[in-house]
Amino acid sequence: MQSSSLPRGLFIAFEGGDGAGKSTQLRLLREALQGHGDRVVTTREPGGTEIGEKLRALVLEHGHGQIDARTEALMYAAARAAHVAQFISPQLTQGTHVVSDRFVDSSLAYQGVGRALGIDQVAAINNFATDSLRPDLTILLDISAADGRSRRIAGSGGIEVSDRLESEPDEFHERIRQAFLTLAKAEPERYLVLDANQPAQELHSQIMDRLQAVL
Ligand code: TYD
Repeated sequence: MQSSSLPRGLFIAFEGGDGAGKSTQLRLLREALQGHGDRVVTTREPGGTEIGEKLRALVLEHGHGQIDARTEALMYAAARAAHVAQFISPQLTQGTHVVSDRFVDSSLAYQGVGRALGIDQVAAINNFATDSLRPDLTILLDISAADGRSRRIAGSGGIEVSDRLESEPDEFHERIRQAFLTLAKAEPERYLVLDANQPAQELHSQIMDRLQAVL
């Protein structure tokens, strides 16, 4: 049971194109918060629960036949519903900070804009899925489609290994990038936008500077 004196954990999400360096920043942030004496868990979307990881494999791996845009959006939303109900909300209630690699804004950008389903429709299914849970802070690691692709290739030993979404052309990823920037502009108090081309330690200090205010 939650004690009324227990402060709720912070919910922080990382967003950005493929290859923006989110996993490095997630790790650095987890280590810094732990060093601060706080309880913290990192997680990812789609995923973070048993059913979520199964949905992740279904939606990202090639070879499951055609997945139309609405089905794709609902699969991400279903994985997210499980993630919130079974993992994120219970952790926050217990006072543990949750740092997630992607959250709802990925669906708004990839499915709403990238797949042209419309931001409002995708927001509606996600409000239902998450019971309207929103991150306290969303950190956008902004990167161009071309830079993101080269970094992904460099990270996998020079070989291009792409999942279903990563296989989309640069033009698709450039639209996603603009969608994230527009979402961030609409809610500056909830977003920190960083140029992902900076060195990892530099990005990390900018994130810690922003978090000092809320920690
Ligand atoms: P991720 O594992 O974060 O890939 P990467 O580490 O390469 O950034 O995300 C998997 C892919 O799923 C990524 O291409 C973005 C896409 N995605 C969506 O299209 N919608 C969503 O709601 C989420 C969470 C991810």
